[in-house]
Amino acid sequence: MNFEKFTFRQIEADTEIKPFDCGDPDLNGFLFDDAKNYLDVMLAVTYLLEDNEANKTVAYYCLLNDKIELDPDERSKWNKINRKIPNNKRYHAYPAVKIGRLGVSQEYANKHIGQMVLMQIKMIFSRMTLSGCRFITVDAYSNAVPFYEKCGFHCLSDKDINEPTRAMYFDLMYYKK
Ligand SMILES: CC(C)(COP(=O)(O)OP(=O)(O)OC[C@H]1O[C@@H](n2cnc3c(N)ncnc32)[C@H](O)[C@@H]1OP(=O)(O)O)[C@@H](O)C(=O)NCCC(=O)NCCS
Repeated sequence: MNFEKFTFRQIEADTEIKPFDCGDPDLNGFLFDDAKNYLDVMLAVTYLLEDNEANKTVAYYCLLNDKIELDPDERSKWNKINRKIPNNKRYHAYPAVKIGRLGVSQEYANKHIGQMVLMQIKMIFSRMTLSGCRFITVDAYSNAVPFYEKCGFHCLSDKDINEPTRAMYFDLMYYKK
């Protein structure tokens, strides 16, 4: 596999989407049927990692603005987050960027591409100076929770422990130069 032939690009209205299958029909369907519509109505922006030699989509993710906020039933989790924020700047909500979707093609799975994609998002948003953004959030499929934990994400709540997805966050402060 020639990683030098991989390139990132943002999806646009006329982007031709190269073949992709991450094994999840919803995630595949979003890329082919919905990603451009979400861009059109300004609800999410999708990014593609492409293998130009093989003419395939290696991975994709989409991003949208978000926030994390205090759940009064989950004070201890919130205190853990708040401890990293200076006393005089503690609020009941903080700005975030949400990973709306993330999929790695089955052909390219288990090669640390998912981890690399998350690292790219961390680097971009920890250096971004256009607007304040302290956290990355994701509603992780329950079977992907260990993947996100390996990448430094934490669960936001215990309420969704038996749900199909779990709310998770990453503190971008760890990536700030
Ligand atoms: C989950 C997914 C994004 C992981 O991408 P990937 O490129 O295969 O993962 P990586 O190779 O970067 O994995 C990084 C580490 O997490 C581990 N990991 C990856 N997926 C895992 C899983 N489902 N369960 C446990 N560990 C996992 C890897 O073993 C690796 O560990 P290591 O550093 O000790 O070697 C990919 O499998 C996928 O697209 N799955 C289907 C869709 C999905 O679940 N998306 C997430 C939606 S929220």
